[in-house]
Parts: sequence; C-alpha cells; structure tokens
Amino acid sequence: MAPADLLQFPYLAYALVPLLAYLVFWREQDSLSHIPTIGVPVAAGPLGKYIASVLSISKTREWLDEGARKYPSGVFKIRTLYGWIVVVSGTTQCNELAKAPDDVLSFQEAATEAIEADYTLSGWRDAASRPEVHIGLIRGKLTRSLGSLFPAVYDEIRTAFEDVFKLPAEDETGWTPLVARDALMRVICRTTNRVFVGLPLCRNEEFVDLNVRFTMDVAMSAFTIKLFPTFLKPLVGRYLTPMRRAYRDGERLMRDFVEERLRETASHEGKEWAEKPDDLLQWMIDLANERELQPDFLIKQILRLNFSAIHTTLISIMHAFYHIAASPESYQTPLRKEVLHVISTYGWTKDAMDRLVKLDSILRESQRHFGLGALSMPRKALKGFTFSADGTHVDVPAGTTLAVSARAIHFDEGVYECAEEFRGFRFAQDDSDEGGARYVNASASYVPWGYGRHACPGRFWAANEMKAVLAYLLAHYDFRLEDQAVPKETWFGHNVVPHQTAKVLFRRRA
Ligand code: HEM
Repeated sequence: MAPADLLQFPYLAYALVPLLAYLVFWREQDSLSHIPTIGVPVAAGPLGKYIASVLSISKTREWLDEGARKYPSGVFKIRTLYGWIVVVSGTTQCNELAKAPDDVLSFQEAATEAIEADYTLSGWRDAASRPEVHIGLIRGKLTRSLGSLFPAVYDEIRTAFEDVFKLPAEDETGWTPLVARDALMRVICRTTNRVFVGLPLCRNEEFVDLNVRFTMDVAMSAFTIKLFPTFLKPLVGRYLTPMRRAYRDGERLMRDFVEERLRETASHEGKEWAEKPDDLLQWMIDLANERELQPDFLIKQILRLNFSAIHTTLISIMHAFYHIAASPESYQTPLRKEVLHVISTYGWTKDAMDRLVKLDSILRESQRHFGLGALSMPRKALKGFTFSADGTHVDVPAGTTLAVSARAIHFDEGVYECAEEFRGFRFAQDDSDEGGARYVNASASYVPWGYGRHACPGRFWAANEMKAVLAYLLAHYDFRLEDQAVPKETWFGHNVVPHQTAKVLFRRRA
C-alpha cells in the first residue's frame, strides 16, 4: 500500500485521534477563560480538553440545554470535537450576530472551516470572490423564476418518481418497501439539477450518482481532515480532497455538455436566442468573467452547488416526510386532502404550492425541531467582538467561532407554546410569528435558515421544491411505516441526520 493510499483510509486517522488531539490542543490558548464553560469542568489542559471533545459527540445537546437554563439570553462556551464554540442562547444576541459586519464576524470563514472547504471544495474561493454572481443568482434570478420554471420542475418530479419509485403494478399486499431516503435523494438530485443544468444532463444516472456521492464524500472527508492539526491540513487535504475524483468523473460526464453551451452562447454574441436554456448554468455563463468561462471552473461550480443544495434539502424533507408517514390520520390524510383540493383549483403551479399552508407548516415545524442541527449561524471572529445588548459586555477574541443555539431559541416556551411538542400544523393556524409564520421566513426566533444578510438565499427554491415533491408523493402514493413510529434521527455533536436506512411501504394510489 502506497503512503497516499494509507492517508485515504480514514480509519487510520481515527486511530490516531488521541495523538492528533494532543497536537491540536496542547498549544491552544485559554483566551476564553472569562466565558463560562458548560459541560466538562476539567476542560483545561490537553487531557481535559480531549475528554470534553470526545464527550461532545454525545453530550452537545445536553450541554446546550444546560447552558440555556443557566444563561438564558446569555453567552457560554462548550467544547466540540474540534475546539471551543462560544454559544449565544437568546434572540437578542442572535440579532447581534446577524447584524455584525463580515469583517468582524465572518460567515464565510466559519463555513469554510466547518466543512474544510479549502480542501473539500477546492477552488471555491474563486466563486466566493464574486458573491454578487454566485449567491446573487440564487437569491435573485432563481427565486424570481420559480413560477416560470415550475412546469419543468413538475415534469422532472413526475419522471423521477416514475424512474425511482418502480413499484410493481400489483403484488399480493399492494405495498412495496423502499429505503425512502435513497429514493428521495435521487428525486431531489434530479429536480435540483433540472434547474441547475437542465436536460438531458439532470437525468443522466451517472451524473446523479456523482452528485449524490460527492455530497457524502465532502462531509466524510471534512470530518477526517478536521481531526488533523492546522499545520498538517494542507498536506492531508491534498490527499483526502474528494474534488479530484469528482472532477475527473465530472469532466467525463459534463465537459462536452458545458463546452457545447459555451460554443452556443459565443455564437450568439451576447444576444438572446429562441431556444436559449433557462437554467443556473446558463445564467452563470451570461454573467461570467474570463476565468469563470473556463469549463473546469463551471464543472467544479456545478459540483459545489450540488453540495450546498442537496444534502440540506434532503435532511429537511426527510424529517418532515417521516413525521407524515408515521401519522396517517393526523398528518397524511389532512395533507392529502389539502393537496388534492388546491391542485384541483390551481393545477400543478407555484401558485398552488404557495397555498399549501398545512404542508408549509409541517416543514417549518420539523425544521424547528431538528433543522440541520442544534447550532446555527456559525461566525468566525476576525476581530475582537463585544456583545452589548444585555449590558454584560462579553469580549470574544479574534479566532473564536461563535454560533446560535437553535435549541435554546426553538424550545423557548416564551416564543413557542408547548415548545417541546411536535405540532405539525402549529403554523397553519397561527401567523403571529415575526413576519408571518411561512416556512421561508427567517427571524431571530426561527434560525434553521440562518438569519440576517447570510440567511440561506436558496430557501425559496428549496421550500418550493420540497413542497412540490411531498405534494406529488401525497397525491400519487399511500405510504406508511411498518411500526408507525418516526424513525430515530442520529445526532453527532451538534449535527443531526434523519434515519438513513428506514424502509417505508409505498403503494400507488388509484
Ligand atoms: C432545506 C434546505 C436548506 C437549508 C436548511 C439551508 C440552510 C442554510 C443555512 C443555515 C445557511 C447559513 C445562514 C447563516 O448562517 O446565516 C445557508 C447558507 C447558504 N445556502 Fe442554504 N440551505 C438550504 C438549501 C439551499 C439551497 C437549495 C441552496 C442553493 C440553491 C443553498 C445555498 C446557500 C448559499 C449559497 C448559502 C451561503 C449564503 C451566504 O454566503 O451569504 N441553500 N443555508
């Protein structure tokens, strides 16, 4: 086995955890000692920090709840596998985080660190240097085009279900078990790529496999790279980056397609033409500078966009889907009734999706309970930062990572009545939440989309897509879980994923 092969074998890294942890922690400054610690009081010295870090894998939620009890609307710190996080637990401090300028508290640097993007999504800073294009197109053009793109989106959902949910026309029981997460992952990947790159690429099975795998590989390699001390990361990152292999496959699958687009665009010399594709790839080409017109940039950018869009959407839709599947009477039947009623009046349109208030509510409620995890809005302090709202003036040194406790906010009885209860239609009766309780609304009391200038720009697309997929499923299939219980999610530190392998029984509706 060559040394490179050894490094690609992540278990080796896990076996080296104690040594690596020592290297990571032994030089760490205790510049946060003035901020109260929740969790392990012995988190001082390399060994204490190491123990607390390992414990954080299973204890983070407990620590966050304890922190919220002891410091309601306050600031405290917890240990994670990768170091300290300074946590804020109330809406006032959440507002401060949201309003802080990027050169003081940086979302970009925190997000880069969280997924080791310099290595896992190599080259991504090229795109990040022009947010007005690469984020602007998602926030602006994609959101504005949801209505005109809906027929294509619906066509892709319909054909994806035909291809992926291959249920026998008839069997003895009429029910067919499927690993719902795998099936919905493919539907989401195809639907998303119908608006990212269009036909025929979005339906290419190998292209779907590539994006599904890349999404998983980024998460896995980020986890492994993060176990190494900073000075080793550039070296390790070179070997563990999933981008090299993904790009190699991406080039094979996408290069001709992308080059054809570029040729076609160039041949029209900046003018519109009748059959011009209407998708994110074309919009990026229309706004591209010289560097961004290179096929290699565009291929990598498609992979990176798939990473931001697919796993987040899949996690969110699965939490809601399992709750719907587990409660045929309380949720499935009323939701189906709503869908069939609205569709009979408005057809399969974006207008119809906007009227599915119960579906909107259950998506919002499941995201309130789980979201992408127990923390949200990570920010890296580039300069010292002082919280002033509550008058306590907690100074946070540069280099610190801060985040909001989504748990503290989402389970605050002062904000949500019977906050611990899962009430799927909580927001369907009540629009008293700040700005109205629509699924896409981000606020200091609802943070799964983040909040402030970095609030997820893809949320309008994601919400519309998830509603369309779930509405299609409700209209065309019955589904149930064998034992009627919501399959248990898995927590790892502050991150949560819905059950990965639960089988759901499906039956085509007449
Ligand atoms: C249900 C699915 C999704 C969830 C839960 C989600 C959640 C988030 C969150 C929490 C943030 C960080 C906000 C902050 O810290 O203030 C974010 C940022 C972002 N999201 Fe999403 N997201 C989803 C889907 C998408 C999709 C489909 C796209 C692309 C089409 C997308 C593109 C982005 C981008 C580009 C950013 C960075 C924004 C910036 O740098 O200002 N997201 N998302």
